[in-house]
Amino acid sequence: MRNTIIAGNWKMNGTRAEAETLLKELLPLLDPTDNTKIVICPPFTALATVQTVTEGTEIELGAQDVFWKDKGAYTASISPKMLVEAGCRYVIVGHSERRGRFGVPEPDFDSNILAYFGDSDETVNRKLRAALANDLIPICCVGETLAERQANETDAIVSGQTKAALVGVSAEEAGTVVYAYEPVWAIGTGETCASEEADRVCGVIRGAIAELYGYETSEAAHIQYGGSVKPDNAKELLAKPNIDGALVGGASLKAADFAAIIAAAP
Ligand code: PGA
Repeated sequence: MRNTIIAGNWKMNGTRAEAETLLKELLPLLDPTDNTKIVICPPFTALATVQTVTEGTEIELGAQDVFWKDKGAYTASISPKMLVEAGCRYVIVGHSERRGRFGVPEPDFDSNILAYFGDSDETVNRKLRAALANDLIPICCVGETLAERQANETDAIVSGQTKAALVGVSAEEAGTVVYAYEPVWAIGTGETCASEEADRVCGVIRGAIAELYGYETSEAAHIQYGGSVKPDNAKELLAKPNIDGALVGGASLKAADFAAIIAAAP
């Protein structure tokens, strides 16, 4: 039986002062007897603050991205070793806001620019492998854009991104990765994927893992749903058999909402 993992992706929100305030509101709202795993992924600059304030609590620390080299002339990059030293146990890789989707027309989106940082399937794979090599648990995000969904490409995209992320990864490692199905059109938009469909696509991810490594590995893997998860839809999503947690953006910035999402886990 897989436990539930709820991760808060603060994105580019949270000065150190704001992080402290938010956590001091959140901590008293958590039930210490709950065995749901909680991960908070603040900006790099707030990692130390989150680590200090959550010391001795069940909250684990995650980063939002990582570079695959250990050190060197890679201006502005952070290595897996640096994250481990900073107390991280998890790291998000391949978030759609980091994947390059330039030039993909999205008429229903605010802008044609869906991502700013140019991650590709190959760089996501390198980041994931570097994380694993340093005993960090990658939270590997995959998901289709609205145009891809409308073109009936969802399953191919999600399965392709999952398999590409796992190139060169052993079965044992693949079972420890946390996968996050994050439909791009549902992120930060208030649009949630219907729970049946989110469950179905998480099943597609599980199927891709099974194709590569077999049933046992695919059953061991945790798969989160992410995209406008809120207190009022969390219970239904988290009750689904293929959904083992949530990757929460906007709602993780409100202590009461994040606590309610954690409490909604089965
Ligand atoms: P959201 O973000 O909850 O604000 O939609 C989710 C994510 O991007 O991880």
